[in-house]
Amino acid sequence: MDISVEKKKFESLLDAVTTASTAEELELSYLGRNGLINTLLKGMKDLAPEKRKNAGQDINIFKQEVTKLVKEKKDALHQKEEQNISIDVTLPPKDISHGTLHPITLAVEEITSIFNKIGFIRMSYPEVDWEHYAFEVLNMPVTHAARDDFETTFLNGDTDTKLGKMVLTPHTSNGQVREMERLGSKPPIRMINIGKCYRPNWDATHTPMFHQFEGLCVDTDITIANLKGTLDYFVKSYFGPNTEVRLRPHHFQFTEPSFEVDITCTMCKGTALIDGHKCKICKSGWLELGGTGMVHPNVLTAGGIDPSIYSGWAFGFGIERVNMMKYGIDDIRNYYTGDIRFLNLF
Ligand code: PHE
Repeated sequence: MDISVEKKKFESLLDAVTTASTAEELELSYLGRNGLINTLLKGMKDLAPEKRKNAGQDINIFKQEVTKLVKEKKDALHQKEEQNISIDVTLPPKDISHGTLHPITLAVEEITSIFNKIGFIRMSYPEVDWEHYAFEVLNMPVTHAARDDFETTFLNGDTDTKLGKMVLTPHTSNGQVREMERLGSKPPIRMINIGKCYRPNWDATHTPMFHQFEGLCVDTDITIANLKGTLDYFVKSYFGPNTEVRLRPHHFQFTEPSFEVDITCTMCKGTALIDGHKCKICKSGWLELGGTGMVHPNVLTAGGIDPSIYSGWAFGFGIERVNMMKYGIDDIRNYYTGDIRFLNLF
């Protein structure tokens, strides 16, 4: 064994090293458990006893040198590599994962902008409101059976002599008379009221909290033709230009006449057939959108507006419902169970 030869060899190997990781490999091949130094130390037992002492010293000195030089080289290379990283503008950026807006938020924005274009102003009215605004002024007196339709949630607390109890609003129609009051009972009114509604149901088409958008238009000479034209504009903007709308006679306390609005099915395009079979979504070519009608004279009067001068229409549609119809979603609970795979679709 000739240490000076080993030293030369080590120095030239170290010289050739250009990256921190090869410096580490070199270190391991000298100083590791099965590295050269250990092999040399193990080989000492084969030496003649008088040579062992010197050999041991030489190996130890060699080991110290290797340790020192490798460390210096490693430090220098690490430093250099870090510097390089911090200025390497060509490296691709780290992948940043970010969320998406909730589909209902997106739908609210889209619906708002559709109505903004024809001069309707977005409003928000209380989702915890007095019976007065949720029912009374809508021609639904306390004793009226129609109140049961909404299965309203009442809040604990005092009953106001004029306003009644507080409720979680079962519909956005509570905004109708509030909007008339906000404008000092002076039409024109063009409102789109978007808010949360509460009814105690939980199944594929109902969640206890859902959203509605409520249109209200009051002015002189407002007729069903204006209503139909506005609905037509909305459904063509939201569902697509080939969508048709129809009105079916219905009953609401706060509109007269009242209608339910249907649109041509978004899946079978109103043909009631898919690949020659009856469309399973609509069965008839039509899907129900929601309720509408001409504002009842009693509601205008409650809002301080003279029904002999002014007339108006209103509608109330579910946001989840129209979104489900648009995208063919068959279970409303998808919106509120927080499944990231569903939410990422939007
Ligand atoms: N408020 C009614 C509902 O929730 C919908 C509606 C609004 C009907 C406005 C007519 C006019 O079912």
